Amino acid sequence: MAHGGEDGRVEDPPPLRLAPIDQHNWRAALAVQVTPDQLRYVAGHQPVALVILAKAYVRPGDLDWEPLAVTAGASVLGVVALAHASTHTELLHLAVDVSKQGQGIGSAAVELLLAHVAETRPGAEDVRLAVHPENGHAQRLYRSRGFSPNGEVRDGEPIWSLNLKRK
Ligand SMILES: CC(C)(COP(=O)(O)OP(=O)(O)OC[C@H]1O[C@@H](n2cnc3c(N)ncnc32)[C@H](O)[C@@H]1OP(=O)(O)O)[C@@H](O)C(=O)NCCC(=O)NCCS
Repeated sequence: MAHGGEDGRVEDPPPLRLAPIDQHNWRAALAVQVTPDQLRYVAGHQPVALVILAKAYVRPGDLDWEPLAVTAGASVLGVVALAHASTHTELLHLAVDVSKQGQGIGSAAVELLLAHVAETRPGAEDVRLAVHPENGHAQRLYRSRGFSPNGEVRDGEPIWSLNLKRK
């Protein structure tokens, strides 16, 4: 969506990027909210960024956790975590702020995440994630990006994966 600049010219919106959650943006990341109904799809608690930051400290599964913000300029629109093993990466806790959902941000973020994994983790063969069976929006998003169920189930949620080497 274009918006007016100070001189009245229509400017393009700032591009969507991934940024580490760090000392500069962590408060903005904590402000990202999903609806109470959506919370069961993404984390046990709000703010989702708090769960992500706690897990990056605790490092469940002994994975290499990477807490990320989805940004546009100085705004944080969403949060997500990557957790890297030697030959695969898990994508967890993707949340787009409720005020920004349904505008293509989640889809664009997944594209950025896949490019980021391919660039920074050459040993990663696939990206995996768990999707709640009732989370139709997320299933639609992941399917359109090339993910499909791999037959595994974790805590009642089917695991979906995307093979990076065949992409
Ligand atoms: C799921 C989520 C990350 C998707 O991000 P988003 O920015 O809202 O999604 P997008 O706008 O990129 O749309 C992705 C797809 O879902 C559909 N969709 C997303 N939100 C929708 C809504 N509120 N109503 C109808 N369709 C919707 C879109 O139509 C799109 O499908 P299409 O490409 O076939 O048109 C986001 O809605 C969210 O944070 N939900 C709550 C937490 C959650 O469920 N996380 C996923 C955990 S696996």
